Amino acid sequence: MKLLVVVASTRPTRVGPAVADWFLAQVPADPDLEVDVADLADIALPFLDEPVDAHSGGYVHAHTLAWSARVDAADAVVLVMPEYNRGYTAPLKNALDYLADEWRDKPVGFVSYGMASGGMRAVESITPVVVALGMVPVASAVTVHLRRWLGDDGRIQDDGTLARAAARTLDEVRRLASLLRPVTVAA
Ligand SMILES: Cc1cc2nc3c(=O)[nH]c(=O)nc-3n(C[C@H](O)[C@H](O)[C@H](O)COP(=O)(O)O)c2cc1C
Repeated sequence: MKLLVVVASTRPTRVGPAVADWFLAQVPADPDLEVDVADLADIALPFLDEPVDAHSGGYVHAHTLAWSARVDAADAVVLVMPEYNRGYTAPLKNALDYLADEWRDKPVGFVSYGMASGGMRAVESITPVVVALGMVPVASAVTVHLRRWLGDDGRIQDDGTLARAAARTLDEVRRLASLLRPVTVAA
């Protein structure tokens, strides 16, 4: 099974990689599980610049073809995403909008982070977006309140609470991916 972990913030001083590193450390070593980390800051997709929408197919840009191949190869997705102004980040929406069928029938889990809400409002606001793309959001989620869990060293300091949430989320994503795989293979 291939898990795509998307790092959804791109600011130069972002916390995103620290949250993603912590989450990746929670992923159990398993020969049946391959993880691909898609950091949107590295991928640097321009604002959607394909002449036709993704449902029509026929991408013309190399960056779209590369992103399409990467998402297509995934069986499941985890979004490591902060909350910006009670919503999700613009680069994440852009990265989702670039593609269509590549997302379909794939479970998606959320590792959100932020201040007051730990990113929960961003998760709530992106849920209809991923559903519109045919993804299947899982109920469990990791909610990282930065004031509580971000240490002075810039790393996530967990007492086990977040690790348990990560284990539940990963289990759910993997279980759904195995159930949905026959659907995606047949499509
Ligand atoms: C533009 C912007 C808007 C923000 N809005 C919210 C918000 O609405 N709710 C919240 O809990 N935190 C908010 N924050 C705090 C972020 O969640 C926090 O700074 C987090 O580290 C941002 O992720 P990043 O460092 O990976 O960019 C905001 C931060 C930024 C930069």
